[in-house]
Amino acid sequence: MAQPEELARRTFITRALTAGAIIPLGSLTSLASEESSPSKSFKPGDWVRDARAQLPATGRSTYFQTGGVGLTPTRVLDGVSDRLHFQNQGPADPRYSPEMASIEPTLRSYLAEQFGVPQGGVALTHSTSEGISIVAWSRDWSEGDEVIISNQEHPANVVPWFVLRDRFGIVIREINLDAGTDLIPEVRSALSSRTRMVSLSHVSRNNGRSLRTDDCAELAGILRRDDIVFHLDGAQGPGCVAMDFSALGCDAYSTCGHKWLCGPKGTGALFVKPERLDDLKLSWAGSHSHAELDYAGRYTLLPTAARYEFGTRALADFAGFQYAVEWMESLGWNRVLNRIQNLVQYAVARVEEEAPLSLASPPSEVDRSGVFVVRLPSGCDATDVYNHLAAEKHILTSPVRREGDLRLAIHFFNTEEEIDQALAAVLSACEAND
Ligand SMILES: Cc1ncc(COP(=O)(O)O)c(C=O)c1O
Repeated sequence: MAQPEELARRTFITRALTAGAIIPLGSLTSLASEESSPSKSFKPGDWVRDARAQLPATGRSTYFQTGGVGLTPTRVLDGVSDRLHFQNQGPADPRYSPEMASIEPTLRSYLAEQFGVPQGGVALTHSTSEGISIVAWSRDWSEGDEVIISNQEHPANVVPWFVLRDRFGIVIREINLDAGTDLIPEVRSALSSRTRMVSLSHVSRNNGRSLRTDDCAELAGILRRDDIVFHLDGAQGPGCVAMDFSALGCDAYSTCGHKWLCGPKGTGALFVKPERLDDLKLSWAGSHSHAELDYAGRYTLLPTAARYEFGTRALADFAGFQYAVEWMESLGWNRVLNRIQNLVQYAVARVEEEAPLSLASPPSEVDRSGVFVVRLPSGCDATDVYNHLAAEKHILTSPVRREGDLRLAIHFFNTEEEIDQALAAVLSACEAND
């Protein structure tokens, strides 16, 4: 029998389809079989041109900054605007409020289906950082407890641990996840009887390394035996690489809508294994975290991951998150991910031809992602190049943690020509720096 969340989702989608305009399937769906296997030709097909027409920034700049902040299709923004105006006719009016109230359960259920999360395992957040903080604060930390992170983390997976170190005296152990190291021996070498959590990037924003699903699943089994929480920071995961929460085996996974999934800014999700909900305790709570409350001290929490949410929420943005993922789904996940891999392969080949540039992201295909990182010749400053390319050429890239490394986040809407253009501009900026 359909669960309430599923019924709400069906009603929502039916309404949106009959109302027209919002659900972005239409003409793109008919192209979904094209390029579903790796293509030898990297020429953008019609589906890429159609998608770019929905992303105005692609006509104004050469956009390799999806890893920082992603692009959102015009039709998704129109959908958000539609929901805001719809709600504003009467936010507390029963002619409008139930439809708005169905947005979150519908989205939770849809994200669960798309990313292999058991139903009840999705909390809607506003960013990856929010999910990471929920997880970081979910344990009763004692002085000397240990967390394992890596040398390839974003500040979002570093600062919370520094704060916990300063508040409670926890110890942070850093493993080496440079391209070419082995995940499991690295983690094993840092484990101790005090390890309480392992928190790593699924895909690193610094070197683009994507942790292998089978390695993660094996690691999850090792950690589970000692009740160590395994958390992945997936800001660069869904939409950039294939991602299946159940196959990864981790206890919790934080991600966002506003990078590779092309959703509105300020949307995110935290995936949690339902059987771990009571182990990952709440540090923030409020109205809507509870199922029952009697004001005399008794309450029960929601039985699902929605317990991590509270307060009044940006429902129209969450509707936009759903429209964006539906747009990606309509383009075809395989088609999108294969195109990213093909473009990255093209970029790898170009960098190999273009001494003195070299590759900083993993050479092996299984460890690669759309986060492509190039090592500049010595003496060439990545921040200077990034600033020059942005201001003079409207080519948006990003410096990363290692000095001299520059990131091109390559999404499906980018083209070979853009990669050529960016690499030529990088080389000439470095030559001018000499
Ligand atoms: C690996 C990683 N984690 C976390 C974040 C922070 O993401 P958000 O802005 O969704 O909190 C980023 C942002 O670039 C990231 O690359």
